[in-house]
Amino acid sequence: MKLTNQTAIITGSSSGIGKAIAIAFGQEGANVVVNYNSSRDKALEVVKQIKAAGGDAIAVKANVGKEADILKMFEKAVAVFGQIDIVVANSGIQNDATFMEMTLEQWENVININLTGQFLCAREAAKHFVAQAKGQTPVRAIGKIICMSSVHDMIPWAGHVNYAASKGGVLMFMKSIAQELAPLKIRVNAISPGAIQTPINKSVWSSEQNMKDLMNLIPYRRIGQPEDVAKAAVWLASDDSDYITGETLYVDGGMMLYPEFSDNG
Ligand code: BGC
Repeated sequence: MKLTNQTAIITGSSSGIGKAIAIAFGQEGANVVVNYNSSRDKALEVVKQIKAAGGDAIAVKANVGKEADILKMFEKAVAVFGQIDIVVANSGIQNDATFMEMTLEQWENVININLTGQFLCAREAAKHFVAQAKGQTPVRAIGKIICMSSVHDMIPWAGHVNYAASKGGVLMFMKSIAQELAPLKIRVNAISPGAIQTPINKSVWSSEQNMKDLMNLIPYRRIGQPEDVAKAAVWLASDDSDYITGETLYVDGGMMLYPEFSDNG
């Protein structure tokens, strides 16, 4: 049990990677705030699973792109669990279009949820961590922030420029706040998943041909599972990674290794 007596807020945890992280954190003894925007029933199901496994959890509705929603979610977490120790800024969306067809609305929606949402969550997290620590700076971190990024924080992605720009933004956002918050004993890291089998890329894994094509991009030759990411998140949230801050952990089966060069170039 690596997260006993710690409280974690995980945004966008009613499905996909967030859900797997919520369940894994619950199994490690954390109190979990399962945030959702529209999928209340699914969030309640995650809460049920965590409780059935002996953990504690609540579901809280908040749109991460809205400041007032974020503030309320943090207040609720403190009211129920007393304090907050871990925040996983996980919520993310894709709204794909070719560059010249992309509307301002598509651009703004993705930047708002994927980047501004992380700003709002991480800022609130840092404020809470500092206030809770009451001026003491213990040996271990007073709080941990994990930003969910993507291999597309490095790999350009035609047809998805809003998404790639948001994740490229997350990379420098994460590193800059890690630099600023390290003296306060707050650790900030990112996880950059590759192709993980979740609702966001259903069009890829539900087609045999698309899956075949995808395997050419993954040297490890399998699609990732949400649990692959959740295990990395547990480690980054726990004291086992106490000396690690400002890092991006790629959980991608080797997608970042330029696999198209393995028999070419
Ligand atoms: C995207 C997925 C995609 C993966 C690899 C992720 O960040 O959300 O749709 O399959 O990157 O390209």
